[in-house]
Amino acid sequence: MLHPRPEIRALHPCPHGGPNFAEALSLGIPPESILDFSVSANPFGPAPAVRSAAAVAPIDRYPDSACIELRGTIARALGLAPENLFIGSGSMEIIRLLALAYISPGDRVLIPEPTFGEYEVAAKIMGARIIRCRAGEGTGFRFEVNDLLARIQEHHPRIVFLSNPNNPTGQYWRRDEVESILRADADALLALDEAYIAFTEDRWNAIDLLSYRNLLIIRSLTKDHALAGLRIGYAVGSPELIETLRKVSPPWNVNAPAQYAAAAAIQEQAYVERCREQVLAARDYLVKALLQRGFRVLPTEAHFFLVKVGNAAVFREDLLRRGIAVRDCTSFGLPEYIRIAPRTMPECRKLIEAIDSPGK
Ligand SMILES: Cc1ncc(COP(=O)(O)O)c(C=O)c1O
Repeated sequence: MLHPRPEIRALHPCPHGGPNFAEALSLGIPPESILDFSVSANPFGPAPAVRSAAAVAPIDRYPDSACIELRGTIARALGLAPENLFIGSGSMEIIRLLALAYISPGDRVLIPEPTFGEYEVAAKIMGARIIRCRAGEGTGFRFEVNDLLARIQEHHPRIVFLSNPNNPTGQYWRRDEVESILRADADALLALDEAYIAFTEDRWNAIDLLSYRNLLIIRSLTKDHALAGLRIGYAVGSPELIETLRKVSPPWNVNAPAQYAAAAAIQEQAYVERCREQVLAARDYLVKALLQRGFRVLPTEAHFFLVKVGNAAVFREDLLRRGIAVRDCTSFGLPEYIRIAPRTMPECRKLIEAIDSPGK
């Protein structure tokens, strides 16, 4: 009998938002027709120039393994050197490569929860010991930075994973809080995941903290540029950190259409800003409508937010039967909550209408 490593045998896959194709088909709903409030991506889709750029990418030869042009383009846009940038096949790949490069079996990894479940999966694959720090319902699942600092001082983790803003709560760590985490232990690598930064309120620029050698900023083009299907993200860090990621990366990890689309997307910041205004207005509409209907909606600094609905699995399934997807937060340890990300205003109105007529 062939057995994988013990760490892999004990591993459980992490559930995600987005359409579950098998489930939708079993309910007789074409997956592409689902109104999806469960993935917190730009509901307006990619800018037209981004689609066109992807379409002309050569697919009959290998892509540039070092992503030289794309790194140059992003470096210029951010005022950095290409040596500060690593491009990944989605930010998810960067999270995995970081764990692969830095975690030895038994190393401690600090994960404030509830948060994105893939940090734990990446760390466990490498045999890490997870140090948990869980925020409670009393604070709306918001963390206190001092709790985190105490855990760092006690456990000296190899990596601290911080989703900023945090998925699923929308808590956005301030610059001084992040800086205190970076200062707490120079040997603890802070993976600052900014997948949702584009739609966050009162943003500050984490790149200003790059003089801390233990900081790796991870960004995604999935959410702001609506490129989930292409798989593209990037990491910003010291040349040493970036070189280490490159060492463990598979060759040709970023496909050619993704590289072409990303280079075009970086020039489309004005498009994202226009979408951002509408997304935040749609969020405010949804929050107000839900509060008026007596739901508990938790405060957020991101565009997505948590709503207490009782039994989240039942609530989600009732909406799904009517072609609307929301994120059941049971896998975050929040079985009474759903997470909603705004869509266009007409679509948001449909969601509220559906909530007004349960079971129909
Ligand atoms: C916090 C966070 N980071 C990273 C990712 C992965 O994004 P990508 O599509 O760039 O791999 C997600 C996806 O849901 C996420 O929620």
